Amino acid sequence: MTPGQQRAWDRSWERLGADLADLAPGGRRADLLDDGGRLAPGAWFGRDADLRLEIGSGMGETTAALAAAEPEADHVAVEVYPPGLGQLLMRIEAAELTNLRLLRGDAVVVLRDRVAPDSLAGLRVFYPDPWPKRRHHKRRLVQPETVALMASRLRPGATLHLATDVADYADRMREVTDAEPRLENPHGGFAPRPAWRPRTKFETRAEAEGRPSRDLLLVRRAGNGGS
Ligand SMILES: C[S@@+](CC[C@H](N)C(=O)[O-])C[C@H]1O[C@@H](n2cnc3c(N)ncnc32)[C@H](O)[C@@H]1O
Repeated sequence: MTPGQQRAWDRSWERLGADLADLAPGGRRADLLDDGGRLAPGAWFGRDADLRLEIGSGMGETTAALAAAEPEADHVAVEVYPPGLGQLLMRIEAAELTNLRLLRGDAVVVLRDRVAPDSLAGLRVFYPDPWPKRRHHKRRLVQPETVALMASRLRPGATLHLATDVADYADRMREVTDAEPRLENPHGGFAPRPAWRPRTKFETRAEAEGRPSRDLLLVRRAGNGGS
């Protein structure tokens, strides 16, 4: 971490962040869980509001901008990379955001163990690691099993939003989400780029280099269980 990120961490992590390892019944942050061992956002945010979760917030540019743009909702960013979390803490402090909390750990485990089925009002995955080599594609986050898990954590009518600038990953995301019975694609394919998704330097550069971004906006269907 840079000195600035470290200072923000020392000032604010305890208040605004939690480690997945501490988020267990009997664990150091069991106060953030309900009786079933799932995240209780009301206990963390001090209010009841729609909860949107982001997987892989990176340096947090988009995360902080969207939390500021949606003050009526609460937001949790899950990330494994401490400098990114430190940077996001700096953004939260600078913008005085009260509706964003950070979780350090593997988002797949967070979803599986700590997020109640049918609970999220939205789930976002922006520019997940591309793993460009074919033999590494199995490491990509968007796979049938993880998409099934993501869909199960959304409540009916809630949105899963995926974006990437990697053409073959975008096609695969479409294939995988098309095959997931809990999800419906109201656009029938890639969605027009939502104007409200902040345009980062990364996206602008990718576009200039011939890699336009693709957005997928999927809606959780009613029914189909949620285990
Ligand atoms: C390519 S970056 C994109 C960051 C950000 N979404 C953006 O648009 O700039 C992908 C991020 O996902 C994080 N990541 C990858 N797998 C993850 C996982 N299983 N759980 C949480 N974060 C993860 C990485 O640490 C990295 O910061």
